[in-house]
Amino acid sequence: MNIHEALYTTRMMRRLRPDPIPLESQARILDAAVRAPNGGNTQRWHFVAVDDPALIRKFAQLFRKARDVEYHKFANGSGPMAAPAPGADPAAHADTMRRMKVSGDYLADHFEELPLLIFVFAIDDLGGANIYPAIWSLLLAAHAEGVGGVMTMVLRNVEDRVDELLGVPVAQGWKMSAMLALGYPRGTWGVAANRRPVQEVSSRNSWDGPFGVDVPQPLWPPQREAIPALSAAG
Ligand SMILES: Cc1cc2nc3c(=O)[nH]c(=O)nc-3n(C[C@H](O)[C@H](O)[C@H](O)COP(=O)(O)O)c2cc1C
Repeated sequence: MNIHEALYTTRMMRRLRPDPIPLESQARILDAAVRAPNGGNTQRWHFVAVDDPALIRKFAQLFRKARDVEYHKFANGSGPMAAPAPGADPAAHADTMRRMKVSGDYLADHFEELPLLIFVFAIDDLGGANIYPAIWSLLLAAHAEGVGGVMTMVLRNVEDRVDELLGVPVAQGWKMSAMLALGYPRGTWGVAANRRPVQEVSSRNSWDGPFGVDVPQPLWPPQREAIPALSAAG
């Protein structure tokens, strides 16, 4: 897989098979993740792989509870999912939320079948900035192994219980950044096309300055000649 295919098609996969992920694959995935950039190369990160079915069952219950909390926030108009970006189409946001809920419901309902969870911890993750490169590398490396997954944060709603179940040395400053649910996908990877195009979210030289190039559709896979991939704006 070339780098562009990986970047364009590494979607969040929530419908996953129960088949175990071999340890050698897990090693390659984590080994790629720890190559990620991080501030000062302090590498204040720790990854807890969970494949014990009894423990996964406990996390399944917690996950459903934590998700209820998150959707309660959403219903009250708070939390990270509530508001689309200024200028974005509210109907498109509502549609995204509907789809995400359906696929999230599947994940929650089949959580016990997941073969692998990876809990990602960091000390002072700088609002996520210091850990997301590693998480994204992990998901890209997983894709290279044919393994899909989703990054979730809802378990942070019950993080004390997570820390307790995993024996996290909280006093040292470790805090859960995310939990990644991993497995071989039931579906196929496709291009993340449901994104606002570059020219709507980019500008040049000032906030209102046109970016200068319109990108009417994703530039990967390479376009057929008949469809102009790029058009100069204006
Ligand atoms: C910071 C962050 C937190 C996220 N939290 C969750 C989550 O708790 N549950 C979930 O199902 N997906 C979660 N996601 C995945 C997003 O919902 C997903 O990336 C987005 O809907 C776009 O879908 P796509 O990546 O499949 O194109 C999270 C992603 C990020 C970057």
